[in-house]
Amino acid sequence: SEPERPKYRAPVCCVMGHVDTGKTKLLDKIRRTNVQTGEAGGITQQIGATFFPADAIERQTDALTRTAKKKMEMLVPGLLVIDTPGHESFSNLRSRGSSLCDIAIVVVDLMHGIEPQCVESLEMLRKNKTPFVVALNKIDRCYAWKSPADSPIYQPFKVSQKEQEQATLNEFKARTNDVIVQFAELGFNAALYYENPDYRTHISLIPTSAHTGEGIPDLLLMLVQLTQRMMAKQLYLQPELEATVLEVKAVPGLGTTIDIILVNGSIREGDEIVVCGMEGPIHTKIRALLTPHPMKELRVKTPYQHHKVVHAAQGIKISAHNLENAVAGTSLLVVGPDDDVEDLKEEVMEDMETVLESAVDKSGEGVFVKASTLGSLEALLIFLQSEGVPVNGVGLGPIHKKDVNKAAIMLDRKPRYACILAFNVAIAPDIQLYANQRGVTCFTNETIYRLEEEFLRYLDGKKQ
Ligand code: GTP
Ligand code: MG
Ligand code: NA
Repeated sequence: SEPERPKYRAPVCCVMGHVDTGKTKLLDKIRRTNVQTGEAGGITQQIGATFFPADAIERQTDALTRTAKKKMEMLVPGLLVIDTPGHESFSNLRSRGSSLCDIAIVVVDLMHGIEPQCVESLEMLRKNKTPFVVALNKIDRCYAWKSPADSPIYQPFKVSQKEQEQATLNEFKARTNDVIVQFAELGFNAALYYENPDYRTHISLIPTSAHTGEGIPDLLLMLVQLTQRMMAKQLYLQPELEATVLEVKAVPGLGTTIDIILVNGSIREGDEIVVCGMEGPIHTKIRALLTPHPMKELRVKTPYQHHKVVHAAQGIKISAHNLENAVAGTSLLVVGPDDDVEDLKEEVMEDMETVLESAVDKSGEGVFVKASTLGSLEALLIFLQSEGVPVNGVGLGPIHKKDVNKAAIMLDRKPRYACILAFNVAIAPDIQLYANQRGVTCFTNETIYRLEEEFLRYLDGKKQ
């Protein structure tokens, strides 16, 4: 029989902020992984998900709670932490991440203060009324900062503070005050978390270092306390399912799988699901329900755990038939006893139709765009729109001959648009050759801003 259904779900916590502030590195430090060093261009280009179980959080926060009169009780089973890209191209993914989450960590580089995509993230959080804390990261870069030797349990900030010389503390204080002033200018009251007069009116700043782990216990404790105090009711595990497809991936031995974030509800092996597909809705049955081990990133290949049932919130890999054409960045629905499958099919197709319909220019002129996920496709479309470049066709997945043919139509009408922008998708050598023969330029890159730069350089060249 099935184990008892938990009362609480894990809160979803989204990590947001400007590029290179240390979002992924902070998670790497907590997980003891090296995801960031494996990223193309050193930037995050998709949404990630990692489950931090309650016991790991308790271990890291023990030094802070041990001395408290009343020991913190972990009501939630853990935290599901969502990593997002900070690069300006991916505001759509930040928006998606922020709309999925219960609470956010906004990471600010203490050396740089508040930067543009941080402002953008704050606006999204304000709009959704999502509570958040701020990690004031890279404290170790203050002049002559003394960090502890590496240890499995990270050092609370208060302990680090005592180790520093006055001059170092002065720099830390001055930089922190600058950030507080910047927050005030944006209309937010902010304070160092241990000086925060009221967490309902003031944002807590938590000094951290992703390199040394200092302040990580403080950050984790704040997240658990805030979620448990402010939103216990919101965290009751609901019967209704809420889930989003993050990625579609072929895995040896499993076939095509989808990675999903289960935000609420429970999902079972054998459940019938409906997801959006490139060639229409997909109705299939869950063959295997897999998760990475706790503290491992879903978007990185790892050994998986098999489950009969998974409760929210969790990042899950699903293996099932017919997922080859599934579209990442759309909702996943489970067919319940009272559901009409046809209704669900219509519902899952809505997201994609909105993106694709609005994409193609009515003039019949424009470039061809391909991407690996709906989210990255959307990001490219936003970029092209901002550059005033029309789009004549879009698609997901590898470049096919028919895409080249479509792009080639522009050779007569608008030769400089006879090209394909392809983000993070493959082009087979014979297709590349075919494109060369037809005179269609293919831009392929696994780093979005390089692809954008290359394309802009090309357009510039065509003007002269
Ligand atoms: P995007 O995902 O691209 O938005 O970046 P990110 O916010 O995830 O930052 P990332 O983890 O990629 O770190 C960016 C760089 O900052 C890397 O070179 C890190 O080593 C460095 N870095 C991150 N955190 C710290 C820190 O606490 N101290 C120091 N000294 N360097 C850090
Ligand atoms: Mg990152
Ligand atoms: Na980065």
